[in-house]
Amino acid sequence: MSQTTTPDSWSFPAQRQCPFAPPPRYDTLRAEEPVSKVRLPTGATAWLVTRYDDVRTVLSSPVFSADGTRPGFPTLLPGQAQILRRPPFIRMDPPQHTFYRRMLIQEFTLKRIRTMRPGIQATVDRLLDDLLAQTPPVDLVEAFALPVPSLVICHLLGVPYDDHAFFQSRSKVAVSRATTAEQFATALGELRAYMDGLITRKQREPGDDLLSKLVTEHLEPAGELCREDLLMMCLMLLNAGHETTANMISLGVVALLEHPDQLAALRSDPELLPDTIEELLRYLSIADLVTARIAAEDTELRGTAIRAGEGVIALLAAANWDPGVFPEPGRLDVHRGDRHHVGFGYGVHQCLGQNLARLELEIVFSTLFARIPTLRVAVPVDELPYKDEGLLFGLHELPVTW
Ligand code: HEM
Repeated sequence: MSQTTTPDSWSFPAQRQCPFAPPPRYDTLRAEEPVSKVRLPTGATAWLVTRYDDVRTVLSSPVFSADGTRPGFPTLLPGQAQILRRPPFIRMDPPQHTFYRRMLIQEFTLKRIRTMRPGIQATVDRLLDDLLAQTPPVDLVEAFALPVPSLVICHLLGVPYDDHAFFQSRSKVAVSRATTAEQFATALGELRAYMDGLITRKQREPGDDLLSKLVTEHLEPAGELCREDLLMMCLMLLNAGHETTANMISLGVVALLEHPDQLAALRSDPELLPDTIEELLRYLSIADLVTARIAAEDTELRGTAIRAGEGVIALLAAANWDPGVFPEPGRLDVHRGDRHHVGFGYGVHQCLGQNLARLELEIVFSTLFARIPTLRVAVPVDELPYKDEGLLFGLHELPVTW
């Protein structure tokens, strides 16, 4: 059994290049040191896991805990430690995790999500009408990529979309590594107060939405859910529901426009749409850094000893670009037909919103390219402002023309 005791000195998390490929360092690590120690921005160290099989092992084994309250849980954001004192269920282990996830699972089944298709289609159509009424160049993030998933998750949860400027600006602060711990605390405090007020409103006047359902069926004293837990759960859903999909939309548009042969193949055979979306999820791997864990006991991974209490980050982009599993991983191939990527994670925490995300992306890509066949990026692609400072990779802005 070997163990690397000195953390690698490269700066982690590293910037992406070219512009979509994961940091080149991932390739070296995967080939030479698939379980390697790095120093995190907080000064702590953690193990990085880069091979597909190992990433799945980490994400599916109870030896690697998602319990954010364990001392030493690895964090990449300045204020994250504050949330982890009482985290939402994404940072819990079974059986607590199961308790909360079960409360929501019915709302996110394929059957339930499919009933949302007409509403999402109408939202996409309306936003495209508005966009086409503008004079290009137009920022596709602000006009389309962000409003689509925001409107959808607000409607599902019962959050007034009119408040989007407020909660999006606070969420932006909360997920950025450029934020100080104080700024994070302020943003989180404002978001919590906002959600608390909304819960009170739903208690008085429940509507036909998920938050009302949780309030009336599960909130104490009649139910089993305390107010603080409900609050954190809803903030997580609100945030996870729009930040992720918005980045997939904007980056997916650029990726397809940059690969005209792939876009042409999709246009000539719309049946390729589901495979195209899976390929984009693999290729872009926007949630690369999200999947942090901590060893619950002394263990070993690929011959490397990992001690109880040591942090582990299962790098999703490294797994999704593992050439042993996805040949020529740097080639965007809408015919790849491989749905085994880990873009939504793996194991008990695998993305709860994946059916919703897939439906949104299907409607968005089919409608956008049909209605604006001459769509193009208005500036050189390597000059776009990429989001490299948070847990999620994405685009701040995407000026487009047609
Ligand atoms: C394309 C867009 C999306 C991507 C790439 C994505 C990615 C992920 C990943 C990688 C995880 C696992 C985290 C971990 O294991 O630590 C996750 C979990 C989760 N996602 Fe998503 N997500 C997306 C969209 C959504 C949407 C639309 C929602 C809607 C509410 C959502 C809600 C959640 C929730 C609640 C969890 C926690 C699940 C659990 O711990 O059991 N996500 N997501």
